[in-house]
Amino acid sequence: MSQAAAAKSPYRIRKDFPIFSRIRDSKPLVYLDNAATTQKPLQVIQAIADFYSMVNANVHRGVYSLSIESTEKYERVRRLVAGFIDSESWREVIFTRNATEAINLVAYAYALHRIKRGGKIVITEMEHHSNIVPWQLVAQMRGLKIEALPITEEGYLDLSQLDRILRDADLLAVVHASNVLGTINPVKHLVEAAKSWGAAVLVDAAQSVPHMPVSFRELGCDFLAFSGHKMLGPMGVGCLVAKEEMLEPMEPFMGGGEMISEVTLSGSRWNEVPWKFEAGTPSVADVVGLGAAVEYLNSLGLEWVRRHEEELTEAALQELSEIPQSRVIGPESVKDRCGLISFTLADIHPHDLAEYLDRYFNIAVRAGHHCAMPLHSRLGLTATTRASFYIYNTKEEVQLLADALRSALKYFKA
Ligand SMILES: Cc1ncc(COP(=O)(O)O)c(C=O)c1O
Repeated sequence: MSQAAAAKSPYRIRKDFPIFSRIRDSKPLVYLDNAATTQKPLQVIQAIADFYSMVNANVHRGVYSLSIESTEKYERVRRLVAGFIDSESWREVIFTRNATEAINLVAYAYALHRIKRGGKIVITEMEHHSNIVPWQLVAQMRGLKIEALPITEEGYLDLSQLDRILRDADLLAVVHASNVLGTINPVKHLVEAAKSWGAAVLVDAAQSVPHMPVSFRELGCDFLAFSGHKMLGPMGVGCLVAKEEMLEPMEPFMGGGEMISEVTLSGSRWNEVPWKFEAGTPSVADVVGLGAAVEYLNSLGLEWVRRHEEELTEAALQELSEIPQSRVIGPESVKDRCGLISFTLADIHPHDLAEYLDRYFNIAVRAGHHCAMPLHSRLGLTATTRASFYIYNTKEEVQLLADALRSALKYFKA
């Protein structure tokens, strides 16, 4: 194996993640809940520790060198993220707490003010609650309609309904890669369709940006939301990437320090974009940690990340197809899926199954509705079990999961 290939092997990558030294009952941790959050490499942990140890000062406000250094580190990550996501300018990158906050920002600062009463927001049946509830809240306040694009039996968006549903839409809010079905949606096509009807587009990229090359410029959407903690970064930082021409006329999301240029007792004027949307002291250390995560992913290349996950997903789908009591939901083709698989196993309740896998195999999977209750209702299910992969997962772990599922069938006499 060449040095470059070895560096990109999951066996080599695992060495950067202290959590994989955890062993329980002589069983190593098999972490397959990456769609919920990913583990953190030493590089990220160290960057955060270094920041607090040697740099810690508030950003933007100080004229002393520590504060200037802190500001430089914070703003450097904005440029890194802009490059990572291929946006036109660092001014398009706003730091939030997570994808949820990024979507709420658009709901309150854009939809609430700029969509006329009686207007329409289009979502889809496969959205995470984060891309449903914020729209419901502003729809109630503003008197807007919400309509959901249906899905097909195979777990794709029903594109035959697209033009009918977009005809009078003001905003399309759509997930790039479903956290339950795994479906990768044809976002570029959706954006073109929405634009032809004059609708703005928000893409929930929480499950795509960490796992595959994503170009904000190429997608052509107005808003793109993702979370740092799902891409090796710390919890507490996410991003909204948005076109500057959309951000400029928007109202602020939250008020406070940092987002203003002038305050008087009778009124205030706003700071420039992007700081207009970053009220108060940001999570500076977490942003610095996100920067280390982006550099880590850049060193692997997102093409490699995608290929690696495709291989694991293919192997897992093959294993599950050999277990007749299992039922996988979502597209059959690996090319159309991101690196996660939701499934049922006979009539074993997903919570019982997840507990069994944890107790006897030290395998961590997620069970439940995965914050997508409308989708589960549409599928006629109350819960599924989900295995989701990342850069440090191996084919042996996929095999272990399959063996553990067979063992569960015996244990539960299913
Ligand atoms: C598709 C999708 N959107 C949004 C979110 C929300 O992410 P966060 O909780 O980090 O805001 C998630 C998290 O699981 C997700 O999978």
